[in-house]
Order: sequence, then structure tokens, then C-alpha cells
Amino acid sequence: MVKIAILGFGTVGSGVAEVLTENGGLIDRRVDDLVRLKYILDVRDFPDSPYRDCFVKDFSVIEQDPEVDIVVETIGGATVALDFTTRALKAGKSVVTSNKELVATHGYELLKLAREHGCSYLFEASVGGGIPILRPLTSCLAANQLEEITGILNGTTNYILTRMIRAGLTFEQALQEAQEKGYAEKDPTADVDGHDACRKICILSALSFGRQIYPEQVPTQGIRGVALEDVAYAGSADYKIKLLGRAIRRPEGKVCAFVAPHLVPGDNPLAGVEDVFNAIAVRGNAIGDVMFYGRGAGKLPTASAVVADVIDIAKDLKRDHRNDWEEGAPDLVVSPDVLTSQWYVRAEATAEQARAACGEIHLLARSGAPAGEVAFLTGPMTEPQLRKRLEGLEVRSLFRVLA
Ligand code: NDP
Ligand code: HSE
Repeated sequence: MVKIAILGFGTVGSGVAEVLTENGGLIDRRVDDLVRLKYILDVRDFPDSPYRDCFVKDFSVIEQDPEVDIVVETIGGATVALDFTTRALKAGKSVVTSNKELVATHGYELLKLAREHGCSYLFEASVGGGIPILRPLTSCLAANQLEEITGILNGTTNYILTRMIRAGLTFEQALQEAQEKGYAEKDPTADVDGHDACRKICILSALSFGRQIYPEQVPTQGIRGVALEDVAYAGSADYKIKLLGRAIRRPEGKVCAFVAPHLVPGDNPLAGVEDVFNAIAVRGNAIGDVMFYGRGAGKLPTASAVVADVIDIAKDLKRDHRNDWEEGAPDLVVSPDVLTSQWYVRAEATAEQARAACGEIHLLARSGAPAGEVAFLTGPMTEPQLRKRLEGLEVRSLFRVLA
């Protein structure tokens, strides 16, 4: 029998218990053993829960129980979760998590710890919610030199942008809906300001390029600067505004990783990704372009990915299930300032002033635009080149255009 402990009985943790119970028969058959939930640890009390007999308050009960093979960490954050994960791995128990903050900040040391103690640290659910992405990257695409990853990596912000555009909700109303649906982080500024997407692009980069990349190395901009006016201008030329996490392998072997809102052309499959859905486009030197799509957040989709990792470990507790990457380095990551692209600019200026500054431009229109406002697409250039040209103009918005 394989025994499981869940740490944190919130949105994801309760989903994991539900999937383990609802799909128990097929999980047992696929593992060829009985997989059973033994403990749930949470700070709160759940007297009416069908799992009430499993609850404990003291992690050492789980740590010291030799029957527990797999610990599911769904508490979140990088404090208590780091302590419990470290102790579980040191006790030789494999850990499965959805906690991208912990993986992005401490992945290298936790993977090393797992290796040293003959157990596994798996985190499929940490990127893309229910989308199978990490295992395909390291197994199905293992024959490729991966060149570029571009993803809509945050369900909450994609949900907010979609609801603002489609239902005319305010930012606050759309965020509240995302919170009620269990998509948002405990502190939703992590979603809105791009930090959650940043953590996910760090994990994707580490698995794709083999070295830890830390969130503080990745320039990150969220969606607060995206105004409905920008959405309207972009829409007039068949572009959608999406928050993208991007990681590009540079010829010198370094990585250019960043998170920022982009204008995505309507004929790019990423433009059609709406609501809580995420999509991750990967380019490999053999496969070319491939895209992964599905629900990026929510109780059961995320639990689906967590339980898949549990099954993988439970099938063979002794097998090496490790993801792996090497330690990071300060000079591994280069700034997106090196990338040339077209740009979207909205400024307090006339079309003549915009042309004088940026040369050949494509003017955009929207109904109800006030006099003295101009929005346009530039030709290809780097951000430093663009900013120099825009000196003296009152710039309201400036976003990269995805090629
Ligand atoms: P929740 O806040 O819903 O659940 C966390 C649970 O852990 C809460 O019940 C919380 O209690 C409890 N908890 C807090 N501190 C402790 C502690 N010291 N010991 C035991 N339990 C504790 O978070 P989610 O389920 O939404 O997210 C969990 C993790 O999964 C996060 O890392 C998140 O980023 C990630 N994730 C979430 C997804 C989603 O759709 N929600 C999708 C993919 C990943 P209390 O509420 O009282 O603090
Ligand atoms: N808050 C995250 C999101 C949860 O909205 O994408 C999934 O990682």
C-alpha cells in the first residue's frame, strides 16, 4: 500500500483528496497497488469534512511515520512549505507540489536534497495548472535543443483581461470573480503584477535550458498598465493584449527571460486563449513549434496534475523520477533590451509628432479617442532605441508586439 499525506487543505489540497477518492479505483489499477490518503495537515479545522479522521496539526506526525511514502505540499509560499518539504525529503519521502514560488526560488537545492535521499521532488502542477507541460518538455521533447518558450502562464490575469473585454467588468470585479473561483494567489498582486508568471517561466527555463533561473533575474511587468483604450486600439488592428512569459535561448548559450504584456496577432494561436486557460508554445530545433493548452488554474484541473505525479511515483517508489537542473549563475540571464521587435505605443501627441519620432508607423484608431491622443505600431527596434526616439513625448502605454 502507498500512503499519502496532504499539507494544506485549500483549493488544490482539497481537490487532490477529492480526485484520490473519486478516482480511487482507477488510480489503484494504474499503480497496481492501493493508494490511500493517511493524513491531512492544515491550520484550520474541518469538523464536517468526510476526511475528518485524517487531520493532524503537527507535521512531525507525518515526518516520523514510516508508512507515509508521498507528501503532497499544497500550502504555498516559501517559508513553512520550505521547512516541511525539506524535512519530508530528508526523511526519504517523495514530495509532490503545485507551489511554483517554492520551486522557482529553491528548486535546485530541493532537487539536490531529493537526489541525496533517494526520493523524488515533482511539480507538474506548478506550471499551467492541469496542462501536462513539464513532463512533455523533459521526455517527449527530450531529443530537441529547445530554443524558445512563450506562454500565457497566469490564469487569473488572462481571466481578468477576458472578462474586462468580453463582459465589460471593471478590473476589481473581474479580480473578485477570479478569487471566488479559486484561481488567484493568496496575495493576488502576485498574479496581477506578473510575479506568478515570472515564477513559472523560471521553472520552464530551468527544465528547458538546464540551469536554475531565479525570479529576481527576470524583468517582470504585470497587467496594471493595460488600459481598455489599449485593448480597443489593439483590437482595431486584430491584435489581443496578453500577459506573456518568454524565455529565449541566445546563441551564446545565455537565456533571455522576461514577463510583459504583449500585442498578439489575431492569427497566432495564443490570441485565442481566453478565460482561465493557459497555453505554452515551445520551439525545438527538431519538432519546430508545438503548443500546450488547457485550464491553467482551479481546484480539479490542478489536482489532476498533482495526482498524476503521485501516480508516477507510486508506480515505482524506488525508480528515479527526478526532474533536474544545475545551479544558476548571475550572468546566465540577459536583458530583453537585446531583442528587436515591433512596438505598440499610445501617447499624448499628434500623428506628426509620432512620425517625427519613430519614422514609418502604422496608426491605430478607436471610437471615442480624445484629440491629442495617438496610438501606433512602430517598425522593428530594441526597447532602448525606442525609448530614445520617444524622448519628449508623453507616453501612456508601450507594449512589445509578438512576431
Ligand atoms: P489555499 O490558500 O486555498 O490553500 C492553502 C491551505 O494551506 C489553506 O487551507 C491554508 O490555511 C493552509 N495553510 C496555511 N499555512 C499552513 C500551515 N502552516 N500548515 C498547514 N496548512 C497551512 O491555496 P491554493 O490551494 O490555491 O494553492 C496552494 C498552492 O498551489 C500555492 O502554491 C498556489 O500557488 C498553487 N497553485 C494554485 C492553483 C489554484 O488554482 N488555486 C493552481 C496551481 C498552483 P489558511 O487559509 O487558513 O491560511
Ligand atoms: N494564481 C495562479 C493563476 C494559479 O492564476 O494562474 C495557477 O498557478
